[in-house]
Amino acid sequence: MYRDPVESLEPLHHRQAAIRTLRVGMIGIGTVGSGTFRVLARNRADIAARAGRSIELVMVAARNLERAAGIVGDSVALTADAMHVATHPDVDVVVEVAGGTGPARDWVLTAIAHGKHVVTANKALLAVHGAEIFAAAREKGVIVAYEGAVAVSIPIIKALREGLAANRIEWVAGIINGTTNFILSKMRDEGLDFAAALAQAQALGYAEADPSFDIEGIDAAHKLTLLAANAFGMPLRFADAQVEGITALQGVDVACAEQLGYRIKLLGVARRQAAGVELRVQPVLVPAAHLMAQVNGSMNAIMVKSDAAGLTMYYGAGAGSEQTASAVIADLVDVARLDGVHAAQHVPHLGVHAHATNALAVLPRAAVHTSHYLRVPVHALDQIQAIAAGLAERKVPVRQVALAAERPGVGPQVLVLTGPVEQGALDLAVHALQARAEVAGPVTTLRVESLEG
Ligand code: HSE
Repeated sequence: MYRDPVESLEPLHHRQAAIRTLRVGMIGIGTVGSGTFRVLARNRADIAARAGRSIELVMVAARNLERAAGIVGDSVALTADAMHVATHPDVDVVVEVAGGTGPARDWVLTAIAHGKHVVTANKALLAVHGAEIFAAAREKGVIVAYEGAVAVSIPIIKALREGLAANRIEWVAGIINGTTNFILSKMRDEGLDFAAALAQAQALGYAEADPSFDIEGIDAAHKLTLLAANAFGMPLRFADAQVEGITALQGVDVACAEQLGYRIKLLGVARRQAAGVELRVQPVLVPAAHLMAQVNGSMNAIMVKSDAAGLTMYYGAGAGSEQTASAVIADLVDVARLDGVHAAQHVPHLGVHAHATNALAVLPRAAVHTSHYLRVPVHALDQIQAIAAGLAERKVPVRQVALAAERPGVGPQVLVLTGPVEQGALDLAVHALQARAEVAGPVTTLRVESLEG
């Protein structure tokens, strides 16, 4: 007997659910929460048309209720108790935009236990507690969506999971922290000092509540962990990532990199190798003519190398109120479409394919193979060849040697660009170099990324 396939796949109560308003409870109404409220209200009709049903903010939990009322008016129920939102029967989906990894973990797990979908922009929470959270969500058949957690305005999670679903991904690399890119751009273009540039980033709402997460590379490592898990189907391995921020970066290296035709960017790199995955955040030299070097201010950009699509690149705002709201609401639209649909039809959670590539370990720092930049302070200008010879003796391929342009208050410096070499071998060579009589101070090394296929 003929049966309507839609009828057979989709029980009536699911179809009824699909036309009901999606009721949103939000925890936190700071930079991201207020942006989400504004954009939801402003683009209400378009969002409803795209979601197939209306999306309504029904409840907000906030620490400061007076301030919250000033933002949402009296159209939304307010509570000081986030657990109230996480458990309330009138809430279909909880948007967690309060941040932090302590109470936020409890709220999210409680919401899941109550059968609610969760949308969050909380990269720290997912990088650290994601395994537990996604397992709980799988168990309950609910969605945990987090597009706003990575490079806010760029739909990179969607690109990796859906747009590039046909591909084997080889590497993902990008500028994934707006605050540090803003600071580096201000220092380079306007000669601002580090502290002044950071203060501006904080005033613009780009920085984390604790800005050391930004400047020490931790925020970028949280995001990289999520990118690598999506790209390679590997578990979330934040604790294994190599993380270096921009606090130790010196202005002289920014200038010397420019002299050699490079710019310094804080890059997150996740690269599949035969023996494991490189998972690292650090300031690196990228060729000045490369598109990645043109990404300035708080903008982010991510490149993905995959076997069928080849190189693709994604660019957009990496921080900001409505920029993050854009991703949060896109996730709400997905939830609105998929709520009531069998969990097997959902876009998979992280870790679902982990069995296939679980063996992927994070490579130790010493095994990472890249080119390097070295700045070697010397006693005299004629010591350039001795430095190059010292490196060659240790089997470090030397691609270019130059003298740094003179700078007031800075002695003579030899600049070296190496060919690809293992970090462990480079470290030994630099150690030996450091002991040479010609060398007048600490040798600085930075990785060089070509970002080519
Ligand atoms: N502090 C983060 C950044 C905010 O600067 O990129 C967006 O994740």
